[in-house]
Amino acid sequence: MVLARPQPGPTMEPDVLESYKDRFGRHLSQTVPGRKELVVAEARDCTIKSADGRLFLDFISGIAVANVGHSHPEVVAAVQAQMASHAHVNVYGRFVLPAQVEIAERIAGVAPGDLDVAYLTSTGTEAIEGALKLARKHTGRKRFVAFERGFHGRTFGALSVSWKPQYRQPFEPLLDGVDFVPFDDLDAVARAVSDDTAAVIVEPIQGEGGVRVPSDGFLPGLRDICTDRGALLITDEVQGAMGRTGHWFSFELWGIVPDIVVMAKAFGGGLPLGAFVSTPEIFSTFLDPPLSHLTTFGGNPVSCAAAVAAFDIIERDGLLAAAETKGADLKRRLELTREQFPEFISDVRGRGLWLAIDLPPDLTMPIVHEMESRGVIVGSMLNSEGTVRIAPPLIVAEAEMDVFIGVLRASLRAAATGKLQG
Ligand SMILES: Cc1ncc(COP(=O)(O)O)c(C=O)c1O
Repeated sequence: MVLARPQPGPTMEPDVLESYKDRFGRHLSQTVPGRKELVVAEARDCTIKSADGRLFLDFISGIAVANVGHSHPEVVAAVQAQMASHAHVNVYGRFVLPAQVEIAERIAGVAPGDLDVAYLTSTGTEAIEGALKLARKHTGRKRFVAFERGFHGRTFGALSVSWKPQYRQPFEPLLDGVDFVPFDDLDAVARAVSDDTAAVIVEPIQGEGGVRVPSDGFLPGLRDICTDRGALLITDEVQGAMGRTGHWFSFELWGIVPDIVVMAKAFGGGLPLGAFVSTPEIFSTFLDPPLSHLTTFGGNPVSCAAAVAAFDIIERDGLLAAAETKGADLKRRLELTREQFPEFISDVRGRGLWLAIDLPPDLTMPIVHEMESRGVIVGSMLNSEGTVRIAPPLIVAEAEMDVFIGVLRASLRAAATGKLQG
């Protein structure tokens, strides 16, 4: 299947376009104030086209989703074939659905140790809920240890282990018994983990916390503490899996094996799909009582078919290695940009194609908007003021990285001369 790349030029009459913006504001629940300006017409590879005819380079992959690019032709073909065969049939786990088997086997094939069993969900937050339930049920313990700046989703359980007080307080009471400790501080973890801790939940590299990479001893130290105290180690790979760091899972950077791994976002190749993955022994706990966990749409066969296609593309096209080499190159060019603009860029961080820069907090959104007005989409982060996320699809071309660096530098020059317009 060949899909044409988006070409510039409007796809809607101006009055139709404005009417979509009005109707969006009227009928869709708003969680961020302000009128939305970009009406999407198409998205392919690294490019998003707006209905008024502009092309944008997506340098955040739809927030960690489009690792194989938007609407990859092989994902589209897999979705069409699966839909033509069957989509939803019954609730999760009632019948054998080959697409679910295929994707679960693929995860087991790349996950280390005995991480051989997946429970498929629709989203990341739903997979986190399942992982927390599994940890409590398996250990018979109640408490969780989570990290400052950590983010795991917005449902009650996931919110309970997410750090930012502004997002938590309006919805309290949340789960009892969650202790937050500083990220990358093993002494604090050792003090917090007790004989009533069901699990420590960690993003091996904190995503919304600002792409923070811990020191080398942190993940192995966490593994040891959990093993010694009988608590499970849950790694949240919702942003970090599917090649983002040059590995299938970011925890592989430190050679550890967690007890439960949570994935979503890029997992579904662009469609909604999540999973919590663990050992046969830990999962056996969900059989008692029978039906102790269920979902209707989790592991929808169409999403599973898209995920299998995404696995194939990543493997065949060498996207793990590509993420590492392209990421190193992009990071080097960001460091050079930092040397050019030391008054603006205070830090460059990340691994693989999962990068971030720190800007003065009052300039972050103006620079994000400036870059968008110049055709490059980047974004801010939920739990890290002043940080700009930079995480293009793993298929990003060198020429697209050149455009990104050019637009970043032009935007910083505009800031330096008081000419920001975005
Ligand atoms: C690390 C992490 N965990 C969990 C979630 C929740 O995933 P979802 O938005 O698919 O529910 C997110 C979403 O951004 C995330 O970044």
